[in-house]
Amino acid sequence: MVVLGDPVPEFSADSTKGRIDSFKQFCEGKWTMLFSHPSDFTPVCTSELGAAAKLQGEFAKRGVQLAALSCNDLASHQQWVRDIEGSMSEGQKIDYPIIADPDRSIAKKWGMLDPDEKDTSGKAFAARCVFIIGPDATLKLSLLYPSSTGRNFDELLRVIDSLLLASKYPIATPANWHQGEEVMIAPSVSDEEAKKLFPDFRTIQVKSGKAYIRKTMLPEDGGAQQQQGGVQECGAR
Ligand code: BEZ
Repeated sequence: MVVLGDPVPEFSADSTKGRIDSFKQFCEGKWTMLFSHPSDFTPVCTSELGAAAKLQGEFAKRGVQLAALSCNDLASHQQWVRDIEGSMSEGQKIDYPIIADPDRSIAKKWGMLDPDEKDTSGKAFAARCVFIIGPDATLKLSLLYPSSTGRNFDELLRVIDSLLLASKYPIATPANWHQGEEVMIAPSVSDEEAKKLFPDFRTIQVKSGKAYIRKTMLPEDGGAQQQQGGVQECGAR
């Protein structure tokens, strides 16, 4: 089981884009999203790999490389790719590797297996896991869905936007945040420091009188303040 902050568990494997001798090396220096699938030739997985293919350009724009994993062998993956490209990706070729894990050793090592979902031979399927790995090859985010629930790839782009900003600034993103909206200044930042880093930040007044909700736009979003209707707010300075 890999948890936040852990170095990625190492493996080597075949993939539809060639052999990966060291997954750790594959990750080093880049943001990576590894997403697992129960099995080839299954409907939800096919829709997910098609959705990922359609959004390849968006992931690339953010400097994030994709890698899918499914618990079948390379020959099966190669056949499946033709189905995905022919039915679910609107003609988009799959540019990212699909990693072969026929003996489920990688899925086991990473804690991807779902004991409640088994194939006809009684072997546990891999769940729909998402691992977002930083350029230092440590785990920055994970999501775990059962095989019955396909993932929302727009949400994955949204969390990547949040991770990338939080790796650059001492901020966090609030509920339902999207790129271009105000972010929140991390509690570890003093008001003094916040004034230097985010001169236009504002503090939300709350009943307790504690000044812990501090919002700001970031320079790359043009610095335009977004006001939330009906919320009582005041300037920080
Ligand atoms: C699917 O991808 O459609 C699927 C795979 C395993 C169990 C249930 C659904």
